[in-house]
Amino acid sequence: MKRCFSGKTVVLGVTGSIAAYKACEVASRLVECGAAVIPALTESACKLIGPATLEAITGRRAILGLWERGTASDMEHIAMARQADLFLVAPATANIIAKAANGIADDWISTTLLATRAPVLFAPAMNTNMYLHPATRDNIARLRRRGALFVGPGKGRLACGTEGEGRLVETDTILEAAAMALNPHKDLFGRTILITSGANHEPLDPVRYIGNRSTGRMGRAFAMAALSRGARVWVVRGPSTEPLPAAAQVTDVQTAREMYDAVMELVPRADVFIAAAAVADYRPETTHISKIKRGTDAFTLPLVPNPDIAAAVGGSRRPGQVLVGFAAETENVPANGAAKLRAKNLDLLIANRVGGARSAIGSDDCEAWLVHREREPDAYGVIPKTVLADRVLSEIARMLSAPRPGA
Ligand code: CTP
Repeated sequence: MKRCFSGKTVVLGVTGSIAAYKACEVASRLVECGAAVIPALTESACKLIGPATLEAITGRRAILGLWERGTASDMEHIAMARQADLFLVAPATANIIAKAANGIADDWISTTLLATRAPVLFAPAMNTNMYLHPATRDNIARLRRRGALFVGPGKGRLACGTEGEGRLVETDTILEAAAMALNPHKDLFGRTILITSGANHEPLDPVRYIGNRSTGRMGRAFAMAALSRGARVWVVRGPSTEPLPAAAQVTDVQTAREMYDAVMELVPRADVFIAAAAVADYRPETTHISKIKRGTDAFTLPLVPNPDIAAAVGGSRRPGQVLVGFAAETENVPANGAAKLRAKNLDLLIANRVGGARSAIGSDDCEAWLVHREREPDAYGVIPKTVLADRVLSEIARMLSAPRPGA
């Protein structure tokens, strides 16, 4: 995530929602990620949080209005509008959304929103009825049509005591959306990327299962990177500890057979398939309804093979699709990867070293090779999974835009 923000200027507009205090956490996380954050508060926001807090967090003067401290003569709003790489309004009230939708410019934030050509991201927070009011719905739809981005709101208990839609989403979710908005390369816009992610749990009895150590970190990195390039992202997720970006459409599954069914249903409509899950190759022949009791004799567990999802997709591929697999290998990593690419009829394959100190499983980094059909593998060495995902997506974007024989 840090890579996305380093060296970027984010104008953080804070408007008068009870959630205004959460803007401090958003600002702090952005600064931690290397962004220069320029805080701006409306008059109502100043009644809820002190500008001094945001100034201390960001190390910059908080902008409070068009006419303060002689800034109007500097045309500070125009300068900031130009300087911003991203204009984030968090929290965004119904009022600022209405002003932006209608081109009203009567305070610093609304005026600068009109002047900026940077991507604009709103994180709404308001009472449910205000959010669901047709006026707000229309304003949001109008802003979306003009290219503005929205993250949330979420559902839950609101400050006004009611339950429903209107909560400011979590800081992590705002940062993810901001990172995506900052990426100017939308080379996967209009494309649908289907990703399998995480492990499988193959049940043995009501309390036990066979699983593996996959965390879903690689799948998450691909989902984030693909969304930030403008793709529509579908993830079929096995059990996993990693949260997925809110903008991804997620199908949760447990077993390899459930994953197979979900993938086969979705893949005909996908442009790209990325098999990042550590699929369980076998499952117990029998799932016991009652708990298996402990005994003193050796216990043998008969296993039967699961379907190979990547091979099934490779065997029924639609022309023009790009299919990407992984290979988790303890030795002969690129050579074994190349054999899997051919056996499963894939276009690209990421061969990872697993086991030992450099194991790709459960780690942020991996030792990887990108294996191609027609040329020698690219040896990437040990790289962060986020960087790996980005490099592979660049290759995928090239393949999608280049005419391919037989595709
Ligand atoms: N894969 C799959 N379905 C399976 C097994 C694997 O879709 N039943 C996919 C994985 O998601 C990965 C690729 O196939 O993209 C290779 O997985 P890997 O575990 O490295 O290899 P296997 O084919 O399972 O072979 P082996 O375990 O013998 O190395």
